[in-house]
Amino acid sequence: KKNGGESGCRFYVGVDVGTSSVRAALVTVDGRLRCTAEEPITIWEPQPEHFVQSSTEIWHKCCRVTEGVQSEQVRGIGFDATCSLVVLDKSFQPLPVNQDGDAQKNIVMWMDHRAAEQATRITNSGHEVLRRVGGVMSQEMQPPKLLWLKENLKESCWDKAAHFFDLPDFLSWKATGLLTRSLCTLVCKWTYCPPDGWDATFWTSIGLEELLENNFSKIGSETSPPGSSLGKGLTMEAAADLGLNPGTAVGASLIDAHAGGLGVIGADVKGFSLPCEHRSISSRMAMICGTSTCHMAISETPRFVPGVWGPYLSAMVPGLWLNEGGQSATGRLIDHVVKGHAGFTQLEAVPFTGGNIYSYLNSHLGQMTKSGSPVDLLTSSLHVWPDFHGNRSPLADPTLKGMVTGLSLSQTLDDLALLYLATIQALALGTLHILDAMKKAGHDISALFLCGGLSKNALFVQTHANATGLPVVLPDQTEAVLVGAAVLGACASHDYSTLQKKRRPGGLIINAILTFLFYRKQHKYFLYSGFWTCK
Ligand SMILES: *[C@@H]1O[C@H](CO)[C@@H](O)[C@H](O)[C@H]1NC(C)=O
Ligand SMILES: *[C@@H]1O[C@H](CO)[C@@H](O)[C@H](O)[C@H]1NC(C)=O
Repeated sequence: KKNGGESGCRFYVGVDVGTSSVRAALVTVDGRLRCTAEEPITIWEPQPEHFVQSSTEIWHKCCRVTEGVQSEQVRGIGFDATCSLVVLDKSFQPLPVNQDGDAQKNIVMWMDHRAAEQATRITNSGHEVLRRVGGVMSQEMQPPKLLWLKENLKESCWDKAAHFFDLPDFLSWKATGLLTRSLCTLVCKWTYCPPDGWDATFWTSIGLEELLENNFSKIGSETSPPGSSLGKGLTMEAAADLGLNPGTAVGASLIDAHAGGLGVIGADVKGFSLPCEHRSISSRMAMICGTSTCHMAISETPRFVPGVWGPYLSAMVPGLWLNEGGQSATGRLIDHVVKGHAGFTQLEAVPFTGGNIYSYLNSHLGQMTKSGSPVDLLTSSLHVWPDFHGNRSPLADPTLKGMVTGLSLSQTLDDLALLYLATIQALALGTLHILDAMKKAGHDISALFLCGGLSKNALFVQTHANATGLPVVLPDQTEAVLVGAAVLGACASHDYSTLQKKRRPGGLIINAILTFLFYRKQHKYFLYSGFWTCK
């Protein structure tokens, strides 16, 4: 956790609150990670489809991960987090979001699907704001969750609530004491639309007219674009909590996936002979692949893609429009399939050295192929439909379920490996499905930029290159999300004038060096014809 002893060095701190842990990184002026720390956070599941967390615990863990940093060298700090809903009362104390009345559990997590019915009702209202979310209100956005709280916990929560924060904005409020919301969260998850702001008719039409009170103070009156400097920076109290100096610059926050997108999409690819080398960054798609996957594409002009969120102005890169496709369960689906398989005990008993179960499975699949025959043919009679947690994009149908065809009575380690491969293939083809929808709406994507936990799985990456026929670029700084968060702090410190600041001596180069490059010519997926509906 030591800075490394250099005096006079400048660093930026990025804090990332993911689904199950809080991480922090100290990032250098050239965008490299100096050191990182991680602390787990609790997820409670008080009833099926309800996933909740504690904002008190999360802030406490944010303070733990920044411990020991030499504060005088830190020029700025940025936060990103999952787009979960935090509820506080008028004295900023947590309020319960479940029937059990436990106020410590005051966050409805992004992946909490309790508000499915409310989301459907909002979709059916057909309000104009829905155009910017692909026509369908997702239960992972905030309006249905707010409606659920009003309809189910009116007395214990709704009536007492004075502040509804997206988790990234809760963190910047804790850091600065300011109620300013990031355009990223409000635009992507709350139907806010600059320059007009809130559409009062939307909130009234869905029955949440209380939110209009006092110029929308409960959900945010002031907004800032990502990375802009918030007030006077860290308050005395937050600085003491975090072990940093009061007044350290704090950037307006991002949702975690958007921080990852920011951390990779600007990568310098000169000299790699990639088709996107001489083209604008709008020909790139950033994929943040973790528990779920987000597919981020940006454009100079707004594009409406059915089943894909956006166009959102300035929600990731200031001044550009963002379209956000996604798959609700990817890393989580792979875990579910592998750990729930009868062959898993056999896998756990394997005395492999180095790597994890997934690298073991990848090499096991290699051994299962007959010499010279490609690994992807192993699953020629086993197919997975990956929507075990609904389809976010491009079908935007949360009621879809998963399917597997081609099962036999055998449940060996080999069967587990094959099901694992078929699951990864299904996810990669899901990405192709999203790319096709974006292409129809005018996006011309020529390369994929991957980050997140799954991007460390070589089979996952290669399968995406094969399925889409596009080159896949991985940054050498594997923690792109943390880099993206630190970029917010760097930007807020005024050491750089804009987020898009280009390379300059001593300037912040976002992940300039690429270590891996996967590129395969379009591979014909004849195996999937007749199964994969979009082809
Ligand atoms: C309400 O908030 C908006 C920003 O969202 C601000 O521009 C406007 O001046 C505020 N109106 C009042 C009456 O305070
Ligand atoms: C990718 O495609 C190549 C060329 O067809 C094939 O040899 C390889 O096995 C494929 N890899 C995966 C992981 O599908």
